[in-house]
Amino acid sequence: MKVLVIGSINTDFVVESNILPELGETVFGQDFAMLSGGKGANQAVAAARLGATVSMIAAVGDDEMGRRETKLLKQENIDTSGIHIKIGVPTGVAVVNVSQGDNCIIVVSGANAALTVDDIREQQDKILAADVILCSLEIPLACVEYANQQAYKYGKKFILNPAPAPHDLPDELVALPTLVTPNLIEYAQIFGLPEHCQAADVVHHFKQYSQENMLVTCGRHGVLYHHHSYAQRQSGFKVNTLDSTGAGDTFNGALAAFFDMPRREAVRHATAAAALSVTRKGARNGMPFIEELKRFMQEYQ
Ligand code: RIB
Repeated sequence: MKVLVIGSINTDFVVESNILPELGETVFGQDFAMLSGGKGANQAVAAARLGATVSMIAAVGDDEMGRRETKLLKQENIDTSGIHIKIGVPTGVAVVNVSQGDNCIIVVSGANAALTVDDIREQQDKILAADVILCSLEIPLACVEYANQQAYKYGKKFILNPAPAPHDLPDELVALPTLVTPNLIEYAQIFGLPEHCQAADVVHHFKQYSQENMLVTCGRHGVLYHHHSYAQRQSGFKVNTLDSTGAGDTFNGALAAFFDMPRREAVRHATAAAALSVTRKGARNGMPFIEELKRFMQEYQ
């Protein structure tokens, strides 16, 4: 598959601690690492490792982090010619707090916020060449809306991963994409469900009201999706979770890479890829290559 990711690139400052501090509190951490991240870049890497031909439209600053991130993406066989260098703004960064395998993240967008519709328009050839276009929400909404319209206009598959959780997603961004892939929190946000609603409430809402193009990732509980007008559930693969950072990105990148498979198979492969991704620390360290994924799925039968 030819996958075009229009999305963010970050450098992740990852801090691991047994507990997370309350506001005003200081705690000791156990580990620190500077790693590569950004939902867009992570998704691009996941798709490339699984055999897709991947290109990116994105933005970095004119700084060491931007050069490093771009170089690393090239090393993953990703076409980086659509990465714009923005003068006077830093490359995006994320402070990732990992605790007990789970994480919370603060993103400072930097150059990601400076990506423009014109930057995407300049790379029209990449849109025309793609089978699947994948976007998440760490870039300006205007860019995502433009990508969505272009995908619709040229008959391209469009996956919208509405992460981080959107506050006011325009109706078109819910209705037009081939697939919208929120997690439980993002789903609740999109449909105005109470902030701390239970997973069961989301499942109920999904079965009753959600349209065919909606797919919900539910962490270790698997994935809800539609197939031939019926709500379906793919169970999670049981693994030893070390760090869930990037699991959603792996799922979305894999889904794009396997988009030509029947939906059920694509979802199963992407769920397995996401499961493998949490078995190593860092957003990308656990992302499988195709051989590893195949082996895992065979052994798991
Ligand atoms: O989804 C994980 C990613 O979210 C991290 O790599 C971080 O950069 C943030 O974008």
